Amino acid sequence: MWKTRITELLGIDYPIIQGAMAYISESQLAASIYHAGGAGVIASGGFTVDEVQNYIHEVRDMCGSRAVFGVNLMLQAPNKDDIAQLVCDEKVPFVTIGAGNASPYIAPLHQAGVRALAIVPTVKLAQRVQERGADAIIIEGMEAGGHDGKLTLMALMENVIPSVEVPVIAAGGIVDGRGIAAALIMGASGVQMGTRFLLSEECQVHPAYKEAIIHASDKDSTVTGFSKNDSVRGLRNAFTRRYLEAEYSGASIDELRALSRGTTRRAVQEGDIHEGYVLAGMSLTHLNKIQPMQEIMEELVAETEKTLNKAATVIKE
Ligand SMILES: Cc1cc2nc3c(=O)[nH]c(=O)nc-3n(C[C@H](O)[C@H](O)[C@H](O)COP(=O)(O)O)c2cc1C
Repeated sequence: MWKTRITELLGIDYPIIQGAMAYISESQLAASIYHAGGAGVIASGGFTVDEVQNYIHEVRDMCGSRAVFGVNLMLQAPNKDDIAQLVCDEKVPFVTIGAGNASPYIAPLHQAGVRALAIVPTVKLAQRVQERGADAIIIEGMEAGGHDGKLTLMALMENVIPSVEVPVIAAGGIVDGRGIAAALIMGASGVQMGTRFLLSEECQVHPAYKEAIIHASDKDSTVTGFSKNDSVRGLRNAFTRRYLEAEYSGASIDELRALSRGTTRRAVQEGDIHEGYVLAGMSLTHLNKIQPMQEIMEELVAETEKTLNKAATVIKE
């Protein structure tokens, strides 16, 4: 058990959060990481409000009424206000809020007893949500799978951490204990990870998706939509090649959105790893096996402790 501002804030043993993954992160995944000492986040992207509510109830059935978990609120999603209402009614322990300015949602969440963790891409937004009472800030580098900003995690840690007082959670490209230790040394109080947890036995994504990640290495990561401020990171395949060809031949944002419509679901549920979008982060080379969540978490914790213990001697060797 570690003690950081995030373990204290959320009441968990380790400040390791399984980030929301649209169409993927549901109750089993959230329950498995909670049992292993971290906290999971149920996605709202790709799920209906009723489905999200069922997942909330399932986590509580599996882990008890005091289970710590979150729900993701995507501010560009058409059902965002229904999800916000749901999390308040259900009094979920915390919400991660992304894809926009979380400020207006913070006070209503607090009134319902829900902690608000805002995902921010810049110092300015970090300070604004801090002023409005955000309990913590998540900085997500462009190394991350899924929708991305334009800064690396290292640049975000350099820019944002010294600019705010609230605890910061680092995300993007962290897949092992060395990455967790590095983020903690940089001043983060916790980490959020996605891609590593896709390879947990408990993760419900299609087996072909997991195999694609196992076979991928550093050179297989790509980002679409960068030139349109609509960056999404995943594995290079037939779909991303077609998209990038269109993006850099002058296609409009609407044409590009039409091209990508349904591709995440296609990869996640149908296992079409060629024409679907296999969202995943940049750190891929050493992800090569499927493991139970408990084993993943034990490895992460042991590697982090080993790295931190060694850190004190690095410049004295
Ligand atoms: C398949 C996939 C789907 C994702 N979907 C969402 C989402 O719906 N909402 C969100 O806020 N972040 C989403 N993310 C980002 C993750 O929550 C997390 O921040 C990210 O995976 C961290 O980077 P990593 O993949 O390198 O570990 C997604 C990431 C992946 C890999």
